[in-house]
Amino acid sequence: MSIAIITGASSGIGEQFVRELAERRLASEFWLVARRAERMEALAEELGINAKIIPADLTSGEGIEKIREALESERPEVGFLINAAGFGNFGRFDELPESDMERMIDLNVKALVTITNLTVPFMTRGSRVIQLGSGSCFTPLYGFNVYAASKAFVLHYSKALYYELGERGIYVTCFCPGWVDTEFIGKALSRADVTRPKRMWPLLSCRRVVRGCVRASLKGRKMYVTNWFTRLQHLLFKLLPDGILSRAWIMMQRKGGSKNEESKS
Ligand SMILES: NC(=O)c1ccc[n+]([C@@H]2O[C@H](COP(=O)([O-])OP(=O)(O)OC[C@H]3O[C@@H](n4cnc5c(N)ncnc54)[C@H](OP(=O)(O)O)[C@@H]3O)[C@@H](O)[C@H]2O)c1
Repeated sequence: MSIAIITGASSGIGEQFVRELAERRLASEFWLVARRAERMEALAEELGINAKIIPADLTSGEGIEKIREALESERPEVGFLINAAGFGNFGRFDELPESDMERMIDLNVKALVTITNLTVPFMTRGSRVIQLGSGSCFTPLYGFNVYAASKAFVLHYSKALYYELGERGIYVTCFCPGWVDTEFIGKALSRADVTRPKRMWPLLSCRRVVRGCVRASLKGRKMYVTNWFTRLQHLLFKLLPDGILSRAWIMMQRKGGSKNEESKS
């Protein structure tokens, strides 16, 4: 059996993919990639899986080199690549520091493309790539501009790869969840005085959406949109001019703390 490479495996969606693939016995070995090694070690121990822990900051050249070196030295057969490492910070162009915007592009876009390029040569017919897009990838978003644009990139890139790699029998699925209950939201809201949504609703179960995505990937689907609300958004963004929907989204924003945050505290 082949190996699974999962970035962002230390929490949330990436961690849940490890659990799901392990439960379904879809890989004989797991390469877990993120910065927090101790979290990945604990996960591997809990699940009793054969794991290689790769502690790496994927916004850095050294982080990416670790994956390149491991692939070149071990030359494994890769059955799954799941690019789940990613983050988003709310805030308009004049509220977020440039460094935050650059890191979003470095991780959500550059690292995802580079890791895909490094890994595909080790894939064979029937292998799967899952790329983390988002429900935010369908339209430009006020106050979430770089993040939404980075995920729009992932969607277009993944759809093109679906056809390119399809010629080799490799399936690519772009995973587009709505808001999921992970550490993502707390981190996205970590800057107090920026424009942000009044409410992030509905909040989806990580286990449920990941399970759905694995099913979609095994069926060879190009895209997996998690729930009715996000599917409706997707449809409306296709049918209506983005000016109308952007105005609706702007009305749902406010400056400062969100209700989600208040309800947690
Ligand atoms: N939760 C949502 O509502 C939602 C909705 C749509 C799409 N998504 C997407 O889903 C993906 C996973 O997010 P999540 O919800 O699971 O959030 P999460 O719990 O915060 O997980 C993010 C993962 O990315 C890793 N990561 C962050 N920065 C990194 C870096 N510089 N280098 C290497 N790894 C890094 C984190 O590990 P370390 O901190 O240990 O490095 C963590 O494992 C992201 O691409 C996100 O954009 C999430």
